Amino acid sequence: MKIFYFSATGNSLSVAKQLSDGKAEVINIAAFDQNTAEDHSIGIVFPVFCYDIPLIVKRFLLNTALKSPYIWAAATCGSTVGYSFVTINKLLKKRGQKLSYCKKIVLPDSCIAFKTPLDKQPQMLSAQKDIVKKISQDIAAKTENPVFKDKLLPINGAAWWGMKNIFGIKNKRVNADCDKCGVCVRICPVKNIEMRDKPVFINKDCENCFACIQWCPKRAISFGKLKIDDASKYNHPDITLQEMLKNNQS
Ligand SMILES: Cc1cc2nc3c(=O)[nH]c(=O)nc-3n(C[C@H](O)[C@H](O)[C@H](O)COP(=O)(O)O)c2cc1C
Ligand code: SF4
Ligand code: SF4
Repeated sequence: MKIFYFSATGNSLSVAKQLSDGKAEVINIAAFDQNTAEDHSIGIVFPVFCYDIPLIVKRFLLNTALKSPYIWAAATCGSTVGYSFVTINKLLKKRGQKLSYCKKIVLPDSCIAFKTPLDKQPQMLSAQKDIVKKISQDIAAKTENPVFKDKLLPINGAAWWGMKNIFGIKNKRVNADCDKCGVCVRICPVKNIEMRDKPVFINKDCENCFACIQWCPKRAISFGKLKIDDASKYNHPDITLQEMLKNNQS
């Protein structure tokens, strides 16, 4: 089995690792540069961004021929997957494939605009273990289920409009607390940050994934009105920065 994942704050990487149980190949989409992948079972584990799949996952599905009789997907999200699985199924259909199984896993929110209260996080993190166990059993048995969507509105485009125009997330800044450690440059999955006299966002293919702002050890990054504080800083407790950086290298 091959499990492809994308992860910014570690939720999806944690799920991918649990599902692999040390046996399946766990492959970072951000570091994958081939145009085909073949296995008896192929999974995609990803975070939901604004009611849909991240652009990097979309590009992966457009550029990679997945050859498998059993393709499944697990979405990690704060509450709702929106159109994510419908989108994946549509993209797979273009290559004559289909999404056989899909499931969502609710975990603390990586988007600081919608932060999950700290006192709710332990319960969420522990509840996901049973859901992941069930997914693991289902995919081992090659169970099929219908592709589903939840919440039709607001649509994906409107949600991104709000993130950009209400919170101003395109306006990414680095303040004087930055010590030029380079973590943001190395954590960015699309090489959108360059180190000059300080880190500079070059705005090339930014996924707005929140990895840089969430992993900055100095809390020196802000996205428009969104700033990191004790309540909004989040990364999955079982995933280390070193693991994220190692897996991100292409
Ligand atoms: C830009 C952005 C948009 C998001 N949109 C949604 C959403 O529409 N629905 C939802 O339930 N969670 C949403 N989330 C939360 C993430 O999907 C969730 O926290 C996910 O588990 C993060 O996974 P990761 O740590 O692997 O990146 C969003 C997060 C970000 C950064
Ligand atoms: S991670 Fe933070 S402290 Fe380190 S270089 Fe980037 S902005 Fe500066
Ligand atoms: S610049 Fe930050 S938000 Fe944009 S893709 Fe890179 S890590 Fe994600």
